[in-house]
Parts: sequence; structure tokens; C-alpha cells
Amino acid sequence: MPEPEIVEAEPADAEVMVALMQAAFGARRPVDPPSEALGETVESVREALTTGTGVLVRLDGVPAATLLIDPTATAEGEHPAVPGTVVLRRVSVHPDYQGGGVALQLVAAAEEIAAEDGARRAELIARHEFPELITWWRAGGYRELRPAPHGVVLGRDLPVPVQVPTVDDMHALGERLAGVLRAGDLVIASGDLGAGKTTLTQGLARGLGVDGPVISPTFVLSRVHPSRNGAGPSLVHVDAYRLGSPEEFDDLDLDESYGSSVTLVEWGLGLADHVNPDWLHIHIRRGDDDTRVVTLRPQGARWRGVDLRAVVEGVPGA
Ligand SMILES: Nc1ncnc2c1ncn2[C@@H]1O[C@H](COP(=O)(O)OP(=O)(O)OP(=O)(O)O)[C@@H](O)[C@H]1O
Ligand SMILES: [Mg+2]
Repeated sequence: MPEPEIVEAEPADAEVMVALMQAAFGARRPVDPPSEALGETVESVREALTTGTGVLVRLDGVPAATLLIDPTATAEGEHPAVPGTVVLRRVSVHPDYQGGGVALQLVAAAEEIAAEDGARRAELIARHEFPELITWWRAGGYRELRPAPHGVVLGRDLPVPVQVPTVDDMHALGERLAGVLRAGDLVIASGDLGAGKTTLTQGLARGLGVDGPVISPTFVLSRVHPSRNGAGPSLVHVDAYRLGSPEEFDDLDLDESYGSSVTLVEWGLGLADHVNPDWLHIHIRRGDDDTRVVTLRPQGARWRGVDLRAVVEGVPGA
């Protein structure tokens, strides 16, 4: 599968998006009443993109998936919207591209865009006739909130973004994050080479009060940093950059240390995320000059009730 090109949709994309919606919803089992997605027109989508926004995914330049982000109404269509909540509509993956992870990337991009626009929650309606779709959303962290006409409203808290202008701020973020972490937690850090994953881990180590120094594990894949006072969790710092498969990750034999440690895995997406249904995804994106945008994306029940916004709001520069 080629690397997808993912963009925030513009009104000029309406025609391509309608074609994708028709292809995706037209390929589903027929339902009664039919999905309103089949009634979308270039005009209605263009209108939706002026009051809200959307996402368009291309693979090798070919439109593959799209959705609309609606900040103006509730999932059931009532106006006005609940403040801070957006609704994902017309989630469409072209039948030629289903099953390759495109839907996940589409939804992740939508969640990130909505979160950066200040939204805190995303909701959507799934039809009863498609229990497999409800299962898919649940696996992505969505919970059933209330019944809706012909289906159910699913929702989740959105990822928490924060601007991190300097190295000191990145250390401060790690240090504050340590305050909500406990033994048994798994953290996966993603982002390009030099994004700041190790820098964040240094702050985490400081906050946990573990032995240093935290450096890039270039020759060893993992390092254990024990708690200095022996009371708190140790920090297991893993660099999975050179690993090719989840099996190779399992071969590191970290199982014994999980329960008594906070485990942070750089480059661990797709390699370490099977270890535990509960994990914290931290994505670091390089912005203009040295600024980084860090996105905290909690996965699983572990994080319900954990106020990650309070964590990032205390970071200087945020
Ligand atoms: N705002 C910032 N946050 C974090 N690092 C920054 C920032 N501004 C500049 N830097 C620099 O960027 C570099 C980040 O390197 P670091 O080793 O933390 O990245 P990494 O994501 O772990 O890379 P790799 O994938 O190679 O392991 C450091 O040299 C750091 O000084
Ligand atoms: Mg690193």
C-alpha cells in the first residue's frame, strides 16, 4: 500500500468527495431507509465544507477515502451542536481500498484536525444493520452513548494537542506526564527522526525520579532506568526503530518488567500496540522552526477520567 496523502478538504474537493461517498455507501448492503449519504450532492457537500470541514485521502494520487466533520449539529441532526463536540459524517472508504488501514488513518486525521480546532469530543451514528462497523469503531476507542434513529450514537474524547516550542518545554511536558503514569503503563511515541521522542523521555525520567541518563538507545534496543528511591515504577525505554515485526518486539522479552515499570517505546506503532489494550500514543510533529506539536491519544479504558488536558495546560509555552 503506498503512503497516503491526507489533506483537509476544501470546497473544491466536493465533487471528488461525493463520488467517494457514492462508491462507498453504494457498495454496502442495502438498508431501509437508505443512508442519507447516497443523497449527497456536490452542492450539499460544498455547503458542509463551508460550515464545517472534511478529510480527503489519496493513494498514488487516486481519491481513496473521505469524511465530513460537522461542528454545527448533534449526531442526530439537531441544531445547535453541543459546544466542543463535532460529528463525523459520511465516513467513506472506496471499496478498492478497504481493509488496508486507510479508514484508521482517515479517522485519525479527522480527530487531529477537530482537536486542533479546539473540539474535545467526536460523535457519529452507526446503523444497527452494520454490527461489524460498530465493532470497528469500538476498537478505535468509540463507546456507545445513546440510541439514534436506526442505529446508535458512538463517541470518544479527542486527542489532546499541545504546542511545545523548546527543548525545555518538551522536558516539562514529559515531567508533567509522569504525574499521571503508573506501573504497568505503556506509552508509544511516534514522529519523524529527531522529532523529540527521546527528549520527551528525558522529561519523563525526571518526573518519575529514575536513574539516568536517558539517551538514544542506539546499540541496545532497550534500557531499564530504576526508580531512585525504589518506591516508584522504573522506566523501560525502548527504541523499536530497527525492529520489523511485532514478533521481533515480543522477542525483546520485556514481559517481566511491564508490571513494575512505565514502558516507553519509540517507533513502536504497529509493533508494541498489541501488548496491552490500554496504551498512550504520543505523536510528535515538527512545526515551523523548532516548535513541536505533540498529540496525546489515549487508547483503552485506563485513561477514562485521566485529565490529559490538565497535563498539557501546565506546560510552559503551551
Ligand atoms: N521543541 C523541541 N522539542 C524537542 N526537541 C527539540 C525541540 N526543538 C529542538 N529540538 C531538538 O530536536 C532534537 C530531538 O531529538 P530526539 O533525539 O529527542 O528525537 P527523537 O524523536 O528521539 O529521534 P529518533 O527518531 O532519532 O530517536 C534534539 O536535538 C533537540 O535538541
Ligand atoms: Mg530517539
